[in-house]
Amino acid sequence: MNHALPTGRKLYEKIREEFLGLNTQYSVATGEKTRRIYLDSTATTLMMKVVHDVMEDFYHHYANTHSFLHFGARIATREYDWAHQKILSFMNADPDKYTCFFTGSGTTAGMNRLARVLRDIRSDRSVAIVSIMEHHSNDLPHRKHMKEVDHIPLKSTNGTLGCICLDSLKEILKKHQENVNYVAVTGVSNVTGIVNPINEAAAIAHEYGALFIVDGAQLAAHVPIKMSVPDNPAQDIDALVFSGHKTYVPGSPGVVIARKDLLQQIEPEEVGGGMVEDVFIDRYVVKDSFPDREEAGTPNIPGAVGLAAAVDVLDRIGMEFLWDEEKRLIDSALDRLMEIEDVVLYGETDHDLCDRVASISFNMKGMDHGLVAAVLNDYFNIAVRNECFCAHPYVKEMIMDDLLDFVETVGIEDIEHVYQLKRGMVRASFAVYSRESDVNALIKAVKDISARKDYYRSQYEVSSSDEYVHNSFRLDHAESFSVQETVSTLVS
Ligand code: ALA
Repeated sequence: MNHALPTGRKLYEKIREEFLGLNTQYSVATGEKTRRIYLDSTATTLMMKVVHDVMEDFYHHYANTHSFLHFGARIATREYDWAHQKILSFMNADPDKYTCFFTGSGTTAGMNRLARVLRDIRSDRSVAIVSIMEHHSNDLPHRKHMKEVDHIPLKSTNGTLGCICLDSLKEILKKHQENVNYVAVTGVSNVTGIVNPINEAAAIAHEYGALFIVDGAQLAAHVPIKMSVPDNPAQDIDALVFSGHKTYVPGSPGVVIARKDLLQQIEPEEVGGGMVEDVFIDRYVVKDSFPDREEAGTPNIPGAVGLAAAVDVLDRIGMEFLWDEEKRLIDSALDRLMEIEDVVLYGETDHDLCDRVASISFNMKGMDHGLVAAVLNDYFNIAVRNECFCAHPYVKEMIMDDLLDFVETVGIEDIEHVYQLKRGMVRASFAVYSRESDVNALIKAVKDISARKDYYRSQYEVSSSDEYVHNSFRLDHAESFSVQETVSTLVS
């Protein structure tokens, strides 16, 4: 690498200024037009400008990697190959041992694929173990494809839930013995941002002959990852899946990094162009080479190249540095939210007991999550997500007592309605472009909501689909953005 190029803090300061969407303005319920504060990065991240520019350049050379000879095809093929290598090195995955392939648009497709492959190549082992904090994409594929799924409970300190409990993992492994096929755990919770000790958990799984898979959706952009641990190979991760759209490249694919020797044992899940050596009328010969054999059909070439460019930028800054910066921001947001009497925070908040990145979920006493999220958006232009974040068992586990309290106060005919309104949380989530000023805005807004609950309640009605709808204010789509309007402007 050219040492004159910025790295570390210098590059960090440059790139975090430039993300597309940081200066977007919307009109809010007070009539003002203000800048959006994007605190929904766990759902999907904004676009890194450098990547956007790289992709724009790439489009001038764009061609299919299944063509070989012409210049564009050669350029696309070389850069697409580089994208795979870049991602393996970003994950500290030994390229002799691991391959990486692109599939789907998030982690879901990759996780389904791994579940089916491991079910088939280790068919004598019918149990998958996941944790109670999983996002549905790392729970339902295993429920669907494996005979049995067991859930690891979480460490609990005075009733507050932290990361996965390694002692319980051992107990579950002992219970199922050689029936365990694999353990699949999220690196970081998409609800609380709690970081799991994945390499330690991998070593435990391996002791019992189980494989270890990581859902890296919330990990890849936030925490350094070691898939290969040369000093202690027992801690190696056997497979990891992550999402490009949560790693600063909207529109980029999901990624699977997996041990080649596992994939090699079976014909690839998907068949089609690009993954075969030769095809005859009565048979076909699958390629031996990785990743080609795992990527049937024309891949999302620009998305993959863009994702590798983003990963290259993160690498140049340094993941340890990024992790430290984000932990500082999250810890500050947690501490400041904790000081607000009305705020109920979920998951372990003691920084010494649990690392957290990316996400903070909370509720406000006396206000439904839907109302808080609507007010944050409509009055303060703060974009958050609410409800259960596709992690129903985990969210329900944390709010169960409150839910039961509410349900006791209503008649049987209202239970469903009350359940829908109360079942959930508000989530503020952060990424490399998030700043202390965003935390300031959130704290100010939450304090204002806390002080003027009656006023805000009076401004909303609950719709028949249990959503809080403002009495008079609506987003003006024509003023904000519409594809057709934009096309019309551009072609006129
Ligand atoms: N996993 C995404 C989220 O947590 C969809 O919002």
